[in-house]
Amino acid sequence: MVEVEKGAGPLLKRPLSLHRWLGGDFQLLYRVAGKGTDILSRKKPGDVVEVLGPLGNGFPLKQPTGPVILVAGGIGIAPVFGLAEALTKVKNRESFPLLFYGARTKEELLCLNELKSLGIDPFISTDDGTFGKKGNIVNALMKYAARQGKGIANHTLFACGPAPMLKSLSAAAVKLNLKGHIAMEQHMACGIGTCLGCVVKTIDGYRRVCREGPVFPIEDIVW
Ligand SMILES: Cc1cc2nc3c(=O)[nH]c(=O)nc-3n(C[C@H](O)[C@H](O)[C@H](O)COP(=O)(O)OP(=O)(O)OC[C@H]3O[C@@H](n4cnc5c(N)ncnc54)[C@H](O)[C@@H]3O)c2cc1C
Ligand code: FES
Repeated sequence: MVEVEKGAGPLLKRPLSLHRWLGGDFQLLYRVAGKGTDILSRKKPGDVVEVLGPLGNGFPLKQPTGPVILVAGGIGIAPVFGLAEALTKVKNRESFPLLFYGARTKEELLCLNELKSLGIDPFISTDDGTFGKKGNIVNALMKYAARQGKGIANHTLFACGPAPMLKSLSAAAVKLNLKGHIAMEQHMACGIGTCLGCVVKTIDGYRRVCREGPVFPIEDIVW
């Protein structure tokens, strides 16, 4: 939870994912969505920003025993990139990630050079066809799965992106018999589990994105 400004600025801290861990430092990667992120984007080197965190859980990195598929939609690449970077360091090369990355248009695709430096050559789609395949990234994943003789049910899926993408990905995961985890977004107020403003419906009842999440087993979310 990142404080935008002391005093006059927006009162509530804004939730942002950890994009990269760099030893003792970390990086955030965010889209200017409104007032808070606009103010943040105009900070100068040396400005001090109060941060509360890390909060909630993360992708269960110890879980994958087989091949991994990552799916990122839009600014969902922020945490997915960090996960991809971590997975490339796992000794077991089977866990080296296959990345599906969708965005609305070419200009919104981020981290492409950085992915290349990790040795990752992502499957890319854009809604308007200005880069990669035209269409949405869940369809690209379905087509990829159809091309694999034995399917992709032995893969572990990790994803982050806008709710409509995650909803469609959940339906695809059922069809493909694919298990995994997704990072959910909700509006947040406190970030520490007290206001209940960030709940999502799961098969076990309502769960707080800021405490029990943001990462949930994909099959647990009730859409
Ligand atoms: C766990 C979590 C991790 C996130 N990680 C990132 C990240 O790494 N990078 C990034 O760019 N964004 C991330 N977001 C979304 C980010 O928090 C919002 O874009 C931001 O809070 C908007 O603040 P604002 O003041 O700029 O916009 P506002 O003026 O508050 O709102 C502008 C628009 O953004 C929408 N919005 C506001 N808050 C959220 C929210 N929490 N989730 C989704 N939409 C929202 C509003 O509905 C409105 O349409 C994350 C959200 C969550 C819950
Ligand atoms: S933001 Fe308050 S409970 Fe999650």
